[in-house]
Amino acid sequence: MSALPPGFISTRDVLDERLSGADVRRLELTYGNEELLYGLDVLGLAGPFSRVTPWELEDERGVRRINASGYAATPFGEMPPAITEFMHEFLRKNRAMGLPQQSTGPWRAALQANLVGLLARELPSHADSQVFFCSSGTEAIEGALKFAKAWRPKAKYQISFASGYHGKTLGSLSLTPNPEYQDIFRPLVPGALTSPYGDLDALTRLIRRVGADNVTCVVVEPIQGEGGVNIPPAGFLRGVGELCRKYGIPVIADEIQTGLGRTGHWFESAAQGLDADIVTLAKPLGGGMTAVGATIVRAPIYKKMLGGLSSKRHSNTFGGGALAMAVGLKSLEYLIENDLPARSAALGAEGLARLQAVQKRFPNLLEAVRGQGMLFALQFRPMVGVPLPGALKELVFEATAILALRELHQGGVMANLSLSSKRTVRLTPALDMPHDVFTTMFDRVEAFAQTHPGARHLLTSTPPQVTARLAAFAASKPKKRTPSDG
Ligand SMILES: Cc1ncc(COP(=O)(O)O)c(C=O)c1O
Repeated sequence: MSALPPGFISTRDVLDERLSGADVRRLELTYGNEELLYGLDVLGLAGPFSRVTPWELEDERGVRRINASGYAATPFGEMPPAITEFMHEFLRKNRAMGLPQQSTGPWRAALQANLVGLLARELPSHADSQVFFCSSGTEAIEGALKFAKAWRPKAKYQISFASGYHGKTLGSLSLTPNPEYQDIFRPLVPGALTSPYGDLDALTRLIRRVGADNVTCVVVEPIQGEGGVNIPPAGFLRGVGELCRKYGIPVIADEIQTGLGRTGHWFESAAQGLDADIVTLAKPLGGGMTAVGATIVRAPIYKKMLGGLSSKRHSNTFGGGALAMAVGLKSLEYLIENDLPARSAALGAEGLARLQAVQKRFPNLLEAVRGQGMLFALQFRPMVGVPLPGALKELVFEATAILALRELHQGGVMANLSLSSKRTVRLTPALDMPHDVFTTMFDRVEAFAQTHPGARHLLTSTPPQVTARLAAFAASKPKKRTPSDG
């Protein structure tokens, strides 16, 4: 056996925790996304964090936090035993091919059938739908866009909604109308149009203006997650479905964040009366342990793109891999056996009531709170109260959410930013978080509000050296950054 080259970091080094927190930060800043991680490090949010229980993490000093982050991709928390024990068994017993790209495979076969079965339980018209697997949400959207385009090859326009988020590869980015993410990459995929979210009349006008035959598809999140948990008015999703059906325009329901129980339903779009032609899933399907994305497509649309000799028109290497499929299958089982969508709805109502009470008591801190199921949003007042010009205003909004994130963290709750809503922080706890942990989490949110009764307290309670380092970071050009040593 040859020796590992000098400097090579072995699996043993990592598994036996021989890398200190400072080592990890140094390596990450040196060889990874340095500026992002430096910003997080200044805020004390860079970790590394380790699992204590599926719902609690600790930093290198042993300080614990309840985990409500994970961007909705950890439906059962960190290293959930139900999934990891199954993975052990899978690794011991499985004899199926790991990556059955050019053959059939039992795990993919089972997961496909079960996903279609679950969707068809809600929407019987999907009984013969077909699935295409990939390894991320953005890739599931790319697939969906290609299916729609192949279905209507002459159509030139794709419609998505303001504040929507569908991913950051070029196709999905084209339909994520956020100048911060889009501008430098222009021209993007041509034909992307944006309609106001929740406004059916505006969508109708837009479709009529460009001509229904020119519209390839309408892509919609049933609740906008990264947009800050925006719940559309009742009837909107049903109306989108009816309108598009009238014109023969395929609808893509992006359930990557909302689907599989997060919002209290298996498929939020179906629960709101939208029978979409294509449904995308990702985040929770991987059980917090693997990367699984899925595009579920009505049979005729599937066959148009991947029919006959064109069946190789869309492909990837890793989608449908045995480990990912097996974990996906186990995740579905765990969701069903523990009735987690229903639990998410019930616990979510309790959590939202607590947030609403906090907002009522501290309106100078929280402008609004929103939630459905285990998807919660805290929308902060800007921490600088005076009117500011555009760019500065945006910066203050962003800084408000970042400092709120830091203070919540310090108070023992790990939360998420919202990628398309600058002053909103989201909580996405595990759907199976025990009730006492869930209650403690909201106790901590309440305690955080008590110590920050107005948004300006987010600024005044941040140590001046942190504010100074953040301001210097925001004002400087990218350069070599030095991480903290713990
Ligand atoms: C609704 C929605 N679509 C697509 C994506 C992109 O998924 P991914 O980050 O796995 O590419 C996200 C991610 O947050 C999402 O919330």
